[in-house]
Amino acid sequence: MKRLLSFLLILCIVCTLLPAGALAAPSSGKLAALTFDDGPGRYTARLLDALDQRDAKVTFFVLGQQAKAYPEIVRRAYDAGHQIASHTYSHRSLTGLSAETLYREVNDTAAVLNAAIGCSNTYLIRPPYGNYNQTVLSRLGAPAVYWSVDPQDWNCSSASTVYSRVMNSVRDGSIILLHDIHSHSVTAAIDLVDALIAKGYELVTVNELCRRRGITMRSGSIYFDAYPNGTQLPAPAAPEISVRLTGGVPAVTITAEPGTAIYYTTDGTAPTGTSTRYTGPFSAADGAVIRAFCAYDKNGGRSKTASLTVEGLQTAPPVLSVEDGLCTITADAPGDRILYTLDGSAPQADSPEYLEPIALTPGTTVTAAAVSAQYGMSESTWITYSDGGHVFRDVRLTDLHYADIDAAYTAGMMDGVGGDRFMPDMATNRATIVTILYRLAGRPDVASTVMYSDVPENEWYADALCWATENGIIDGFADGTFRGKTPLTREQAAAILFRYANVQGADTSARACASDFADIDAVNGYALEPLLWATAEQYILPPSDGRLEPRGSISRAELARLVMRALEL
Ligand code: NI
Repeated sequence: MKRLLSFLLILCIVCTLLPAGALAAPSSGKLAALTFDDGPGRYTARLLDALDQRDAKVTFFVLGQQAKAYPEIVRRAYDAGHQIASHTYSHRSLTGLSAETLYREVNDTAAVLNAAIGCSNTYLIRPPYGNYNQTVLSRLGAPAVYWSVDPQDWNCSSASTVYSRVMNSVRDGSIILLHDIHSHSVTAAIDLVDALIAKGYELVTVNELCRRRGITMRSGSIYFDAYPNGTQLPAPAAPEISVRLTGGVPAVTITAEPGTAIYYTTDGTAPTGTSTRYTGPFSAADGAVIRAFCAYDKNGGRSKTASLTVEGLQTAPPVLSVEDGLCTITADAPGDRILYTLDGSAPQADSPEYLEPIALTPGTTVTAAAVSAQYGMSESTWITYSDGGHVFRDVRLTDLHYADIDAAYTAGMMDGVGGDRFMPDMATNRATIVTILYRLAGRPDVASTVMYSDVPENEWYADALCWATENGIIDGFADGTFRGKTPLTREQAAAILFRYANVQGADTSARACASDFADIDAVNGYALEPLLWATAEQYILPPSDGRLEPRGSISRAELARLVMRALEL
């Protein structure tokens, strides 16, 4: 016995020397909920200290009369992200009470808890002695919680006994019953937190335990555990905080997963369930420290806290627009100066200052930046007024395919995608090239009907497809499909254009030298001659030195080039 004691003593010292978290194992998805009844009491603060160090969350089923004696402990536990729940006011067996007395036991407790915490919440209820029946459950007005592990800690005085009783019966999804009014129970609980974390458990509140297992807790029902049932939801992710100048003022935006509410502070203090609830972007002072969490339930269902310091802000870029060749530039904040260039270069401190709308000649890129006294020069932003008189926010005059994009746009062969954007790098698909060639051919009447199993008769490109099939420009796949939405590959584009050129009676005799390309063997047989022809004529440019990348996709910019060459056929 003495040897055992000294062994235990050494074990305790070793445990004490280990830093908190040293025993942490990677999460295995196992969950357990430690719950504490009958408090708060004089040992609860020690428990809260230990839980803080270990980042474990638990649930306190407090008595109303105890909460009234220790309101600051209730508030502290709540603010730390633990769940506050009710064990009724005075611990009377509910099955023997009149409805009126039962309501008073429940409502008086809720009132004391709301007052201690500083806001109203929903409180789960654990009936004293575990005594309940259907009548009791229906009168509680909140979900009831039982337990699945009971070490009978009130009936012994040894922390190690409590500890081993729990460890012998805990499993994934257990709700464990303890009492924080006993010193040995608190000691056992702290050891249990370390041991369970080391075994891969995450210690969560009852609310969170049930939510992670997809269990919706309902008033009138009682819950014993949340054993694995196939549903395993993740912990709520900490919100994301961002800040940028809007109208010259720092504006903070916080985003979090749908279904959660966000609570935040701007003075660097830890947010709690009584902090401001986020409803939309708000302004903050330079240097302010924003901290926020999101919660499925602010009482015990919170994410970790995210933090951001408002600093290093840069003036917001101005907004450019072009209408009928007249460029208007608008600053984000009234006091910002705007500098601009018309040669595509980034504005410098000595660039011209924008004072009134600028009349542009076609073929101009306007680049502008805003300057504010407090936040310096913004990033620059630009807009292109093309030779064809079109406005592009994503095509520069210096882009390789600029002239073809502008010409294809002017000829009505290709459209933008809205918002002055052409999306030059977006991959194009098989349906698009067929449609464009059909436009090039002047939209002739078609006699046949669609013969591909995956293209409905009323598909928007059905006529184009029939025309292309009739003229031998398009071949479907061996399984009878056309696959209009699949990206157009370089070899398919070459083959289609080659056949179109032959239909037009064009000279298609040019060939690039096959041995110039390391991946020539990768080209499908049907596409080999067409791809060498399209490469020789520079209709399709090799994407990289010495390679054809036959299965690479054709971007919208490359399609514009191809369309404009096809126009000359
Ligand atoms: Ni009790």
